[in-house]
Amino acid sequence: MDKIAVLTSGGDAPGMNAAIYGLVKEANSHGIQISGFLEGYKGLINNHSQVLDLSMVKKYLNRGGTLLGSSRTENMKNNDVQKNIVKNLIDSNIDALVVIGGDGSFQGAHALSLHGFPVIAIPATIDNDIPATELSIGFRTALHNVVNTVDIIMDSANSHQHIYGIEVMGRRAMDIAIWAGLALDAEGIINSRDITIEEIINKLDESKSLGHRSQLFFIAEGIMSCFEFQEWVENNSDYKIHPLVLGHIQRGGTPIYDDRILGMAMGKYALELLIRGIDDVNLAVEQQHIIYRNLSDTISYDKTNVYPLNLNKENYFDSL
Ligand code: F6P
Repeated sequence: MDKIAVLTSGGDAPGMNAAIYGLVKEANSHGIQISGFLEGYKGLINNHSQVLDLSMVKKYLNRGGTLLGSSRTENMKNNDVQKNIVKNLIDSNIDALVVIGGDGSFQGAHALSLHGFPVIAIPATIDNDIPATELSIGFRTALHNVVNTVDIIMDSANSHQHIYGIEVMGRRAMDIAIWAGLALDAEGIINSRDITIEEIINKLDESKSLGHRSQLFFIAEGIMSCFEFQEWVENNSDYKIHPLVLGHIQRGGTPIYDDRILGMAMGKYALELLIRGIDDVNLAVEQQHIIYRNLSDTISYDKTNVYPLNLNKENYFDSL
């Protein structure tokens, strides 16, 4: 194995750069060259890459985002596009590809594997919605960003006795809303359509009666928007809601130490597996160990209820 390529795809996640660094560092020690495709799968389709230098990549270890750029592209679903990519990779003497991204990126990676090209996928998304891994790179930094930012907002909320309805990212997954809600002891976490307006009003009444000067609701974006939440509460009570979309402040910023270590460890492990001839797999975290699974199994799981953090969430709820 002489030459391996890497790309980052989908929403950027803090720690992606650490994964690239871990890969390049390990490759360096085996005399393997790493090329990075630019702008995600777009760069792969357009055959646009550059050789990655270890000391250049190390400078990005403490930076959020992705030094390679990223994109979302539907073209990866096209069979002719996939065949052409594999041809370009072989013509460029690239022996294997490492894809760093979320579930959509995993689908693209598996498609290339089905065309016979060796691929390994590394889970990186703030949503933490990849099936069968307890953690994805970037999730804990995003949570850290949310908690720190909302702490600041609550200083103001406490001064003015405001009620906030804060919409957080995560697509259909609820992890950011749930874990941030727990960390801040929010009055409510809107992570299901089953929650009733009576429950919300009761929470508000209770919090007021306890003398709390501000109230906080986290709303998982996959359930409803903060504006819908505002309308819902205001149409059914005298309470006034401050709606807030937290937005991309959740996704950028310095990766916390856990995401750097996870990123570097996964980058290194991906290279080790490729050297051992193992591919068409994705890395995953299980009980604090990095493991690998068949990509075809991972992408066939029902992502709404299989990843173990969901189970832990129930336990946490029970004990709070
Ligand atoms: O998948 C990561 C994510 O940040 C989601 O939480 C969010 O729904 C989406 O990407 C936003 O995408 P964009 O940055 O393209 O608007």
